[in-house]
Amino acid sequence: MSNQDQHTPVSLRGLNADDPHMQPAARRPRIVEGWIGFLFLLGIALLVLFAVAFVMNLAPWTLGATLGGGAVSLGAGLIAWGKYLMPRGPFVEERHPLANSDEDRDAFAAAIVERGGGIIQRRKFLGGLLGTGMGVFGVVSLFPLVRSLGPMPKGTLFHTDWTSGSYLVDITGRRVNVTDLAIGSITTVYPEGFENTDNGQAVDQTVLIRISNESFTTMKGRETWAPQGYVAYSKLCTHLGCPVGLYEQQLQLLVCPCHQSMFNVANGAIPNFGPAPRPLPQLPLMVDSNGYLQSQSDYKEPVGPGFWERS
Ligand code: FES
Repeated sequence: MSNQDQHTPVSLRGLNADDPHMQPAARRPRIVEGWIGFLFLLGIALLVLFAVAFVMNLAPWTLGATLGGGAVSLGAGLIAWGKYLMPRGPFVEERHPLANSDEDRDAFAAAIVERGGGIIQRRKFLGGLLGTGMGVFGVVSLFPLVRSLGPMPKGTLFHTDWTSGSYLVDITGRRVNVTDLAIGSITTVYPEGFENTDNGQAVDQTVLIRISNESFTTMKGRETWAPQGYVAYSKLCTHLGCPVGLYEQQLQLLVCPCHQSMFNVANGAIPNFGPAPRPLPQLPLMVDSNGYLQSQSDYKEPVGPGFWERS
């Protein structure tokens, strides 16, 4: 075929099964449409399975296979539609005169409609399936985004499980008595009922230190917070949230192992050194009639680092 033959102008009207520009597969539109419809349906089914697998928290390979398979099926159907059901050029239109008359434009639009109606007999059906598939794909694409946000923090940004009258217990749930710790000793305590990971939260962790035998005041307004020499502070470092569990007894300093912030436990845990921007929140303590330690209330301020950083 000569180069001139390849660019012979072709009318947009009258495209039929004998037209040399028609895709071979388009001569059997029913079969092709069936395959494309099957790909769209398969894609939709796989995406719905992905949503189910995501909700049921199935294995990662299941999520990948269903999401990937669904996207590939939809894409393959779309590609097949464009490749086999759309007319193949080149279509050359006379360019003189350059400005088309209204009649020519009407004829062009009619030719497009006529050609599409003749070859793609179930355009609405396929278009509906494609739209549904894309919609489902859009919805399930939000699932990973939603899950990655994690659980709602609710009030945990501002409150812990400590309340008025919470008994201080160790990791085994045993209540702490004022006779338990020697001077200079330290232990980690939790509000009773929240000492295990099923019920408790990281923000509940509190270090309990016995500084002396006498009640004392860490700072003005906290006169009753440290009975019989016991003082309690949040275990979450106010820098980046590491557990502040090292205690230098001689200097009465709590030390964060991550970036070496040091908090003076005798004066309200004001940072003496390091990047921590504010003191460790102090938990107000009291002692019941049997000598067991309780909290007077929740912390008076949010624990750990975060958006609530204040001046
Ligand atoms: S996390 Fe404690 S000093 Fe950085």
